[in-house]
Amino acid sequence: MAQDELIVTKTDLDGKIRYANRTFYKFADYEPVECIGVQHNIIRHPEMPRTVFKLLWDTIKSGEEIFAYVNNRSKNGDYYWVFAHITPSRSADGSIIGYHSNRRAPNRNVLHNHIQPLYTQLLDIERNSTSPKDALAAGETHIHDLLKSKGMSFNEFMFALGV
Ligand SMILES: Cc1cc2nc3c(=O)[nH]c(=O)nc-3n(C[C@H](O)[C@H](O)[C@H](O)COP(=O)(O)O)c2cc1C
Repeated sequence: MAQDELIVTKTDLDGKIRYANRTFYKFADYEPVECIGVQHNIIRHPEMPRTVFKLLWDTIKSGEEIFAYVNNRSKNGDYYWVFAHITPSRSADGSIIGYHSNRRAPNRNVLHNHIQPLYTQLLDIERNSTSPKDALAAGETHIHDLLKSKGMSFNEFMFALGV
């Protein structure tokens, strides 16, 4: 991604895409008709740890925002890393009516030196677990211990790595 590019999508409460900007389609290599009303995992990359998506959903469902590095897969099989901000969208009465995400070019040094090693560790932990449930629990414990050792929340940790 170029530094001035922004990928935007909006989803309903279930994570089905309701809006995507042109930059999304450019990178994802899909047409709108293939994406609107479809689960956002259409661009899920198989090498993304499930733990990260669990953290993402737990955070936004609780009404908080999250910043996270995500590796996505295009229709043509390419991959593209982004630094994503995902946040709930609220109605006038404050209830959550959907979700919104903006992504920009990741910091390559942070990606190579911190995020990719962390995600590789998480994938190893998940793959060495005996069940999908254990995999998520073990992944969450790993993140929890890491953040505890830093004395930071997940978002604080992301920004402490540098942007
Ligand atoms: C607003 C919003 C944006 C999302 N953006 C992405 C994304 O860019 N890439 C991705 O793989 N998942 C994204 N997700 C998470 C997906 O909904 C999904 O949880 C994830 O792809 C993992 O797929 P799975 O839940 O089927 O395992 C987003 C979710 C929301 C609510």
